[in-house]
Amino acid sequence: MKSDVYTKHPDPKKPANLDDYDRVYRSFDWKQARKEIDWFDGVTMNAAYNAIDRHTQTWRKNKIALYWEDEDGSTKQYTFEQLSLLSNKMGNILKDFGVTRGQRVFIFLPRVPELYISFLGILKIGAIAGTLFSAFQEQALADRLGNSDAEVVITNTELKKRIDKVRSKLPALKHIITIDSPDFATSMEHASDELHIAHMDPDEYAFMLYTSGTTGKPKGVVHVHRAILQEHMTAKWVLDLRDDDTYWCTADPGWVTGIAYEILGSWSCGVTAVVFAGRFDPKRWYQLLDKYKVTVWYTAPTAIRMLMAAGSALVKEFDLSALRHMCSVGEPLNPEAITWAIKTFDKPFHDTWWQTETGAISIANFPCLDIKIGSMGKPVPGIHAAIVDDTGRECKPNEEGHIAIKPKWPSMMHTIWRRPQKYKSYFEHGWYISGDRGMRDADGYFWFIGRADDVIKTAGERVGPFEVESALVAHPGVVEAGVIGKPDAMRGEIIKAFVVLTESQKSKVKSQKSADAFKEELSQYVKKHLAGHSYPREIEFIDKLPKTRSGKIMRRILKAKEMGLPIGDTSTLEEY
Ligand code: WTA
Repeated sequence: MKSDVYTKHPDPKKPANLDDYDRVYRSFDWKQARKEIDWFDGVTMNAAYNAIDRHTQTWRKNKIALYWEDEDGSTKQYTFEQLSLLSNKMGNILKDFGVTRGQRVFIFLPRVPELYISFLGILKIGAIAGTLFSAFQEQALADRLGNSDAEVVITNTELKKRIDKVRSKLPALKHIITIDSPDFATSMEHASDELHIAHMDPDEYAFMLYTSGTTGKPKGVVHVHRAILQEHMTAKWVLDLRDDDTYWCTADPGWVTGIAYEILGSWSCGVTAVVFAGRFDPKRWYQLLDKYKVTVWYTAPTAIRMLMAAGSALVKEFDLSALRHMCSVGEPLNPEAITWAIKTFDKPFHDTWWQTETGAISIANFPCLDIKIGSMGKPVPGIHAAIVDDTGRECKPNEEGHIAIKPKWPSMMHTIWRRPQKYKSYFEHGWYISGDRGMRDADGYFWFIGRADDVIKTAGERVGPFEVESALVAHPGVVEAGVIGKPDAMRGEIIKAFVVLTESQKSKVKSQKSADAFKEELSQYVKKHLAGHSYPREIEFIDKLPKTRSGKIMRRILKAKEMGLPIGDTSTLEEY
């Protein structure tokens, strides 16, 4: 691949945590990282203990672990010891509700401190934490809480209303804890802050996250306590976190980045984290970077592109000289975004590649390595990543194939909840097949090409077309729907729906105005029933959807048509 290269000039007085990639990659194996983590008796562990409590045995006890700020500018701060004690209380409250090891406790909250405290408390008692993005609506909640058989949900009064609407479909759900209720305040006050932290086998389940594929309902990707080993090592090597850093990860713990690098891996490195609970706003983001003197910043390409669009003049109003290292994740990081960052911040964003299923950063641009602008970088030491063809053979340099990883690695998912066959289907010819296409160049740098399936990435968030199609079809005016990701300069992709209307609905949308109004109604319908972020921004009415003879919607054809590309082989089509 031909590309611009950003050459690093390491400061020998301040070497990166990983300062010799080639040497470490050649010699590293995960056993060497054992000592980075605290083990209770050499065998058992607890990820939450490693993230927070172990630091209370050291000088970090009174170190700030969390600077929290919300949309209105209210602030709170917590030391490692405070997070330890509060999550102990949370653990005790859950125990009082009868929660035991292995039970599922889901958190449905915006980025308030209680989200983080709850997550830690759940892990500490050996239960399995699940997170639900606060934009989820009834259907999305019913699918996830139903499939996981969650016994407890921790939420607030506002969001609880959505759960109440589907509660009758959730027989396993015994308790809803509302963190802004007087009851909860009393429980927290009275709960003991001493807790026996569960000693977990490293392969016991710690948390689960629902994520989308091409077909079917979202699937519960389950991670184990051991995953913190890789989350810790990558936070150290890739995010380059050090004790004097103030670190801001802009992700939400409803997604994997917010769990692995806002809670587990980053706090395991003992870093001071900033959490902003408000919405994206360029000026506010720069203010936060300035106010907290953020040194390490982990964000996503859509946000970077939105900052670019806000203009460089805005940046100059702030003192961002503390920024030392910047990383990006979740969707392709376009070269323009890196070039802009170099011009604007005098440093590049370092792209990192991974997935909910991989559990931690797997391929990355490392602080000590030159960046080939547009490339995702190189595999993390201990990760054997490759580009393979359909038979599992490793491709030659610059040949396109599946991005694959040799199992196992510490943060690899352990199962798909209740869907063992689905879990198995990820592995072929001795490889984990990621679902992404890419290539590797002669220097070992990986390049992202695209998804091998129909999964949509909009503003970095993963959306399954089937979920959106199902939500559309639930509307009485809709017969069927086909949903694709349409390339978008700002959001990477937007959700576009092709919708077949009922005859009676068709007769109601004859004028442009009524058609536009109904499109808006459909968008709002999906927003209200499925999720605030996974609604179609574009809708087109269509007479028939292209389908295979077996009746499957050919989204590939809808996409090709949308993009004006050749339609390809249509020999299996029933109708087109
Ligand atoms: C995409 C997010 C290009 C990819 C941590 C992957 C990326 C999916 C990158 C996983 C990147 C993630 N460049 N694409 N650096 N990082 N992706 O599960 O398609 O929400 O399979 O995990 O995001 O999304 P998920």
